[in-house]
Amino acid sequence: MFLVGTELDGTLVDMEVARGKVVAIHPAGSLVPPEGAVIRRGGRVTAPLAEPHVHLDATLLGARSPNRSGTLREGIANWARLRPGLTKEDVRERAMMTVEAYVAHGTTRIRTHVDTGSLVAVEALLALRDEVAATGVELQVVAFPQEGILRAPGRREAWEEAVRLGCDAVGAIPHFERTQAEGTDSLRLTFDLAERYDRRIDVHCDETDDPHSRHLETICALALDRGMGDRVVCGHCTAMHSYENPHAAKVIELVAESGVQVVANPLDNVVLQGRYDSYPRRRGLTRVDQLWDAGALVGIGHDSVQDPWYRLGTANLLDAAYMLVHLGHLTSEEQMHRAVRTLHDQNHRPFGGALPVAPGNPVAWWADTDPVESLRKRAAPEVMAHA
Ligand code: FE2
Repeated sequence: MFLVGTELDGTLVDMEVARGKVVAIHPAGSLVPPEGAVIRRGGRVTAPLAEPHVHLDATLLGARSPNRSGTLREGIANWARLRPGLTKEDVRERAMMTVEAYVAHGTTRIRTHVDTGSLVAVEALLALRDEVAATGVELQVVAFPQEGILRAPGRREAWEEAVRLGCDAVGAIPHFERTQAEGTDSLRLTFDLAERYDRRIDVHCDETDDPHSRHLETICALALDRGMGDRVVCGHCTAMHSYENPHAAKVIELVAESGVQVVANPLDNVVLQGRYDSYPRRRGLTRVDQLWDAGALVGIGHDSVQDPWYRLGTANLLDAAYMLVHLGHLTSEEQMHRAVRTLHDQNHRPFGGALPVAPGNPVAWWADTDPVESLRKRAAPEVMAHA
């Protein structure tokens, strides 16, 4: 595969690519591809995209168990009914199909949560992590206690077992525990477990419209006290949407200071939040513009690919970015560029940061030079893994 007259960081280059990785970069106009070679002309190159938040154990189940109300609570209930019947083969097959859909849309790093209520699913996704590594896909697995760790006997033990089995990150869901105090307890246990096993942390945090759900500040304080900010991600943080502005300003400052990354999941959040509102109906999205302005780290996740919570996922991260710029009023020229750029820079932060486009590293090719055109069309890049 040869790229001719392609933009790399504002400079035109020619590039030789094999199996999705850069072989050599030449000045534009200096490379003569051999007869019959696969060639892409123009466009631009970046690092491939990274998905910071999805649930591969539940993917492609939406049709099997339709969410009749369209609510978060029914999604959780439907999933709880399906979970005991999961087999390793079923989880592997659905997850693999979804990984392939991600790669087809230019994404080669995927962080998936796995519900620790099913150690069958945990083991299936840990095995899949090794299987797809051979194809150049980096999969991270988060031990996610969908129904909390303190609400019922056995849940904490299963969560700890999932981490012991080899999950990359410790998950939590503090707003789903019985009380605010137990939510705080669950977070201390999360940091303790991550420290004990030297794991990262990825919390489903304040995924509610309740302005009194205030776990994000606790996570930032714990991250600061324990020096772990660069290893912590908080997904959703939708309660922040509804905080009083002075409180939101304080928390956002703390997020930026702590180094905790906030991952917005606009596709799910716009339909799952605001369900207790009549009109006006809240958008259920974290405050991305204010987080950006404060210098905080933000990621954009897809969250659901045809699962019990959201039937419409495509594994195309540009869909999530497209939804985000609409819901977040992020349609200034600079903000739209930044939304696309997030997919191939800060979305890599859970994986240790994006690799530069350089010999030996993976690369993605976009047909459009203008990132806003890519966003408008949701025209994802090619990663050329097989060319
Ligand atoms: Fe999620």
